[in-house]
Amino acid sequence: MVDLDKLIRPNILTLEPYRCARDDYKVGVLLDANENTHGPALTEVSELEDSLELNRYPDPHQHELKKNIVDFRNSQPNVHLNQSSPRLGVENLCLGVGSDESIDMLLRCVCTPGQDKLLTCPPTYGMYSICAVMNDVPVVKVPLTFPEFQLDVDAVARTVESDPQIKLVYLTSPGNPTGKLIKVDLVLDLLRRLANQNALVIVDEAYVDFTLGEDDEHSQSMSTLVNQYDNLVVFQTLSKSFGLAGIRLGITYCSKQLSYFLNAMKYPYNISSLTSSVALRATSTGLKVMRKYVDKIKKERAQLIENLSNIEGVGRNIGGLDSNFFLLEILDKNGVPSNELAHELYTKLASIDQVVVRFRGKELNCTGALRISVGTAAENTVLVSKFASALKELR
Ligand SMILES: Cc1ncc(COP(=O)(O)O)c(C=O)c1O
Repeated sequence: MVDLDKLIRPNILTLEPYRCARDDYKVGVLLDANENTHGPALTEVSELEDSLELNRYPDPHQHELKKNIVDFRNSQPNVHLNQSSPRLGVENLCLGVGSDESIDMLLRCVCTPGQDKLLTCPPTYGMYSICAVMNDVPVVKVPLTFPEFQLDVDAVARTVESDPQIKLVYLTSPGNPTGKLIKVDLVLDLLRRLANQNALVIVDEAYVDFTLGEDDEHSQSMSTLVNQYDNLVVFQTLSKSFGLAGIRLGITYCSKQLSYFLNAMKYPYNISSLTSSVALRATSTGLKVMRKYVDKIKKERAQLIENLSNIEGVGRNIGGLDSNFFLLEILDKNGVPSNELAHELYTKLASIDQVVVRFRGKELNCTGALRISVGTAAENTVLVSKFASALKELR
C-alpha cells in the first residue's frame, strides 16, 4: 500500500481546495465572480460561443467530460483487470491542460524540490526531465533494454529500492521515440515489486489508442487498473488519437485518494469552456471518428514504412509499430547508422523541401534515427519522394 501521508508533500496534504460560491449556488442573478455579465468582447458571437457563455468561468469539476472518458475506458477493459476490482469512476480522474500539465502537477504534488527525485527510462519523452529541472528535482536514469526497448524491471526496482528519495517512475508506453508498447506484464511486475515502496509508477499512454484494432474489445491501456494498484498512475491525452492537440486536454487516472489531492491543487478553471465543449463531443460521438482515423493511420504507416524501406540508405525501423510514428535508421555508404547523415537529411528536408520530420539520433540507442509521424496518404507521398531524392543527393 502506498502511504499518501508520506508520499505527498506536507504543504499539499494540508491544502484547502479553492472554493467558489458557484460550487453551492449555480442559478439566478450571478454576481459572485467578478465576471463581465454584458458578454464577450467580440464583434460577432457564433451560436456555439453564445451557448458556451464565454463570459462565465468554466466548470471546475468537468463531471460530464470525466464520465464520457471513464465510460469509454471501462468499455475496453484490460485483460489483467480483476473482476472484483471497482471500475473506473470519475473520482479516479484529474484533467489537465494537456499531459504536460498533468506531468508537472504530479511532480509538484509529490516531489519536494531539492530533496526528492524521479526516475526515467531513456530513450523517452523529454518533458519529464524538463519539468524535473524546473522544479529542482534530480532525474535518475535507468535505460530501456536494447535493442528491445523494453522495461528492465529488475534494474528499475533495485534502483528505487536503494534510493527512498525516488518518488516517481516515469514509463512511456507506447514509447516516444521508440513507438513500442512496454509489455503490460512487465509493468505489472514492477508495480508488484514496488508495492511497499513509497513511490508511484506512471505510465504515459499518449499513444495507446494506436495499439487498438478497429473492433478490439480489450485495450492495452492500464487506465482501468488504477483501483487495483494504488501505486499506478496513467496519463492520456486527446492530442494524438483524438486529433485535438490544439484544445489541450490531458487526463490523469489514479487512485481516488491521490486524485483528491491532484484535484485540490489544480488551478480551478484550468479546462476552458471551449476545450470541454469540443472534448465532450470527441469522447462521445467522436469515438467512432477516432477509431476510423487510427485505423487509417495504421494502414498508411505500413505502406509508408514499406515505401521508405525501398530507398537506398534507409535502414530498419528500430522501434515498434504501436504508435502513429516510427523510428527509422539512416545508413551511410558503408551501411552504418549515421547521425551526421540523418541530421543532414533532416535539415535538407525541412529547410529546402519543407517536409519536417524529427532528428532523434542523439537519444540513447537511437543513433542515426529519424522519427517520422504518419501523415495523410498525400503527405506521405510527398515525404517519400522528397526523402528519396534528398538522401540520394547526400550519400
Ligand atoms: C509521451 C508523450 N506524453 C505526452 C505528450 C504531450 O501531450 P499533450 O499534448 O497532452 O501535452 C507527448 C507529446 O508529444 C508525448 O509524446
